[in-house]
Amino acid sequence: MNTEYLSVKDAGSEVALQRAADIISSGGLVAIPTETVYGLGASALIDEAVAKIFEVKGRPQDNPLIIHVHGAEALEKWCSEVPEEAYTLAEKFWPGPLTMVLKKKPCVPDRVTAGMDTVGVRCPDHPATLRIIELAGVPIAAPSANISGKPSPTTAQHVRHDIDGMVEAIVDGGDCRVGLESTIIDLSVSPPRLLRPGGVSIEQLREVLGEVSVDAAVYRKLEAGEQPKAPGMKYRHYSPRAKVTILDGTADNVAAYVNANCGPRTAVLCFDGEEALFNAPVCLSYGDPEKPETLAEKLFACLRELDREDIDEIYSRCPPKDGVGLAVYNRLSKAAGNTVIEV
Ligand code: TXA
Ligand code: MG
Repeated sequence: MNTEYLSVKDAGSEVALQRAADIISSGGLVAIPTETVYGLGASALIDEAVAKIFEVKGRPQDNPLIIHVHGAEALEKWCSEVPEEAYTLAEKFWPGPLTMVLKKKPCVPDRVTAGMDTVGVRCPDHPATLRIIELAGVPIAAPSANISGKPSPTTAQHVRHDIDGMVEAIVDGGDCRVGLESTIIDLSVSPPRLLRPGGVSIEQLREVLGEVSVDAAVYRKLEAGEQPKAPGMKYRHYSPRAKVTILDGTADNVAAYVNANCGPRTAVLCFDGEEALFNAPVCLSYGDPEKPETLAEKLFACLRELDREDIDEIYSRCPPKDGVGLAVYNRLSKAAGNTVIEV
């Protein structure tokens, strides 16, 4: 298949946006930019199109998709028993990096929700994708646009690398601002439960919701037989080929550990300004820990950059675990198979 490349960064992009919407309306697959990561979108209402998403990604059939909508008015259309808090959250955080899990109405196809009785709904904060949703007039089902198991794509180039030739079009809307997938909050249970940390922090959610519980899969690897509430959290994810280890400690302690243990195929993910501390052959900064949003923005791009033949081992500085840092820690822990060493 010849994948169309639609840039929407310049004036005159309405033609490209209409083209993307037409492909979606007629059952095709289009990679779409969002503020979190790129999505692999199709009309949520066309069964064969949704089935193709699973095929292209190599996604397990039991892993539901979230639907992308234009605004809070969609809640009532696709969800039932919507609590008042859902509207408050939408008002505060939409468009933005927050997915709400709610009881679904029968009009949401089972293919999208993998047979669950709930659906994840998100209004993304990217003008191009909001316009595509509007023009197509349907909710867009979209997982992250990576091949299953790889870090989510945060640039159109990442998307091309993973799925060029497998989808009808890729919409290039520039680099993703947040860089990690949305926060997922399950509002179908009481108290509401955080299923995946993201750009909207648990502290921000608690300001609106009061008590919020946290799914065990957010902090640690699940034991055999334990099930996360978000099926996707159980799969190996976000991993480069190399073995990743998180080193939790001060810059000096981390440097001492790395310098004593590194070899010719070691890489380090450090913080801004620390490169000179490390003797490893490859040293990449993923941002400033005082501004965890910078770590979120660059983490996946860095993991992709280090996914190369000559790197066998990656040591990473440990991000802060509060605010957006918790999302960074969660993704990095998954890449590391939860290997954290305190130094
Ligand atoms: O930021 C994002 O959320 C991106 C962009 C493209 O919007 N999308 C994304 O989708 O990350 P995906 O499919 O890669 O991750 C969605 C996660 C999966 O872990 C899935 O299991 C979970 O959401 N999920 C979807 N529907 C659910 C439901 N009804 N109940 C519980 N978990 C659900
Ligand atoms: Mg994903």
